[in-house]
Amino acid sequence: MREIVVVKDKDERNVMAAAKFIKIAGAAIRDRGRFTVALAGGSTPKSLYRLLAGAESKDKIDWAKVFFFFGDERYVPPTDPKSNFRMARETLFDPLRTPAENIFRWPTESAVAEQAAEEYEKTLRNFFTGSPRFDLVLLGVGADGHTASLFSYTEALLETSRSAVANWVEKLGEWRLTMTFRALNAAANVIFLANGDEKAPVLKEILEGAFQPKKYPAQGVKPDRGNLYWLLDDGAAGLLTD
Ligand code: 6PG
Repeated sequence: MREIVVVKDKDERNVMAAAKFIKIAGAAIRDRGRFTVALAGGSTPKSLYRLLAGAESKDKIDWAKVFFFFGDERYVPPTDPKSNFRMARETLFDPLRTPAENIFRWPTESAVAEQAAEEYEKTLRNFFTGSPRFDLVLLGVGADGHTASLFSYTEALLETSRSAVANWVEKLGEWRLTMTFRALNAAANVIFLANGDEKAPVLKEILEGAFQPKKYPAQGVKPDRGNLYWLLDDGAAGLLTD
């Protein structure tokens, strides 16, 4: 099931995203005793994380039963300003006082990116006793159509057996760490978050254009047995026809 929801602005989108997060978390904890979520990086989700950790939302989830992972990570120390872990720690984990045992970050201290990816693969397989099936994956989308750190025409797009890989991104001249389509498409729920006019052209291509997942990797996220939601503000949805 794919649902595209357009709301007026970022704040309204965050309220909707928080409501979905709370609903999915409540159902997972009720049915399986825990809620597993892969967080998005970048700047878009910051305000959502602050809202979830804020007074209106924080008491609506049994956070002790929430286990946090990261859909991708920059290959930098966890204290680096570019670190997705650091962003989530500042906006979500510290305000919620999340215990370390509920947080599974990529081990970016590893000497080489591949080693970090191999360790994270093991972490996922141990936690899920096999291939991961997240209750929820949160994702953003770049103006070039990438998502997580699945960038256009990069090796990671071709990975079919692993859930976590290191991915050389030529256009950035750096290593990234990312979950693969295998992991993302096994999720029970995927929520894409996007806002701002600058995302409108790529969202037009992704949602209404030809299917070109090598060029627009976000198109490759199609949960096998899960729900896919696109939560957009008016700016990001500005060029959509439907
Ligand atoms: C990252 C993200 C990446 C992000 C997009 C959008 O590590 O940066 O995982 O995929 O979601 O680049 O970034 P913004 O939210 O900053 O526009």
